[in-house]
Amino acid sequence: MRVLTIIPTYNELESLPKTLQRLRAAVPASDVLVVDDNSPDGTGQLADGFAAEDAQVHVLHRKGKAGLGAAYIAGFKWGLEAGYDVLVEMDADGSHQPEQLPQLLEAVDQGADLAMGSRWVPGGSVVNWPLYRQAISRTGSTYARLMLGLKIKDVTGGYRAFRRTTLEKLNLDLVDSVGYGFQVDLAWRVAKLGLRIEERPITFVERELGASKMSGNIVVEAMVNVTRWGLQARWNKLTGKKDPAQG
Ligand code: GDD
Ligand code: MN
Repeated sequence: MRVLTIIPTYNELESLPKTLQRLRAAVPASDVLVVDDNSPDGTGQLADGFAAEDAQVHVLHRKGKAGLGAAYIAGFKWGLEAGYDVLVEMDADGSHQPEQLPQLLEAVDQGADLAMGSRWVPGGSVVNWPLYRQAISRTGSTYARLMLGLKIKDVTGGYRAFRRTTLEKLNLDLVDSVGYGFQVDLAWRVAKLGLRIEERPITFVERELGASKMSGNIVVEAMVNVTRWGLQARWNKLTGKKDPAQG
């Protein structure tokens, strides 16, 4: 299995070096693609420095901040074109521990079409999050689950391994959500195709350096979209209409 780990970055100068070092040490077989949105703090140049030293590290430079979702779509396309078998999503800030990647890769190896790191299954947890943030994440996840009829416990989680064929079956050009909504959107699209999704417990460690890029707007966007998708799916079912996303 040729594995590509995609790390989107926006102003992650302090966090990226550690994450890259840990990833290269924990899963040396995985190549890495940093997708940087022209970070003002110079994260893109820092990544270029790593790429110059290590042939397994690549950098995709984009013009400006266009959101986590757009960065991943660009990274997926790059990786599919380059022929990778498994494409991994990983945050730059240390929240997704590279040492836990083998569990996700193992799930794909054993037949999962999408393996998801999960905070909300037995054995999963979050470190350094106040209770109210845990409550928001759990509530959001439960709402999306009920609204969309998903079986996944951690719907917004962003530590994932996609089998190549899973991404090939999705029409990536149709995905335009950002932030948390992007993660829900992708999970739902995969579920609708009837593909096999497996959750594996992870310990999500809140970042110690730098700042989160997620905003209240992004949370609201996700909630509005989930509601819209859920209602649309019910309406389509009632009227016998086909979901356009299924093409
Ligand atoms: N290229 C690019 N462009 N990268 C971005 C952008 C962007 O516009 N916005 C965020 N990122 C990168 C960050 O630099 C980081 O590496 C990663 O995306 C996650 O961003 P954070 O700001 O750290 O997000 P978070 O910790 O609030 O959210 C994480 O957890 C959520 C809940 O599980 C992410 O993993 C989300 O995907 C996930 O939904
Ligand atoms: Mn984070």
